[in-house]
Amino acid sequence: MPRHIVLVGMMGAGKSSVGSWLSQEKAIPFYDLDRMIEEAEKATIAEIFATKGAEYFRKKEMEMVYQVISSPPGVIATGGGTLLNPSNLSLLKEHGFLFYLQASLELLWSRLQDKTDRPLLFGKNPKMTLEKLLKERESIYKVADMEIEVDGKSIEQLGELLWSHWIRATEKKSG
Ligand code: S3P
Repeated sequence: MPRHIVLVGMMGAGKSSVGSWLSQEKAIPFYDLDRMIEEAEKATIAEIFATKGAEYFRKKEMEMVYQVISSPPGVIATGGGTLLNPSNLSLLKEHGFLFYLQASLELLWSRLQDKTDRPLLFGKNPKMTLEKLLKERESIYKVADMEIEVDGKSIEQLGELLWSHWIRATEKKSG
């Protein structure tokens, strides 16, 4: 029986926003891996990438996955790259029900184009990078238990939809 709701997908898909909404509306704990890393490191994600490197960040990310899976049941917002690590993937699959928040490139770009906090998009052509990451990662995100289309939905609509699927999934698994 899955203990956690796990939100996966690209940066900009709304994992943190809908995770926070679910936590407040449904009174369940919220674990946002990126925010947990920032708190532990007392630095922003961009600063961590700049001063300690991507590999260090991924190590911290893995530590946080270990920490959250054994925490009280709740909703986990992963980072866009969390599932790239096979160990994260299998741990999250084992302890949670994975929702892939599937968003179009256009929606992702519209949300990210003015943001300055995504180190992977610091290069010359961020929209092309975003498209490349989406193509590379889509098959990994699709290992999720369920795919939910984000385009055209408000946070509330998305949250209620996730919640109803989650209730059904837990009822099914508990027999
Ligand atoms: C990353 C996504 C970010 C953050 C880091 C790396 C990625 O999280 O973990 O910048 O590899 O896609 P969000 O998906 O919450 O933006």
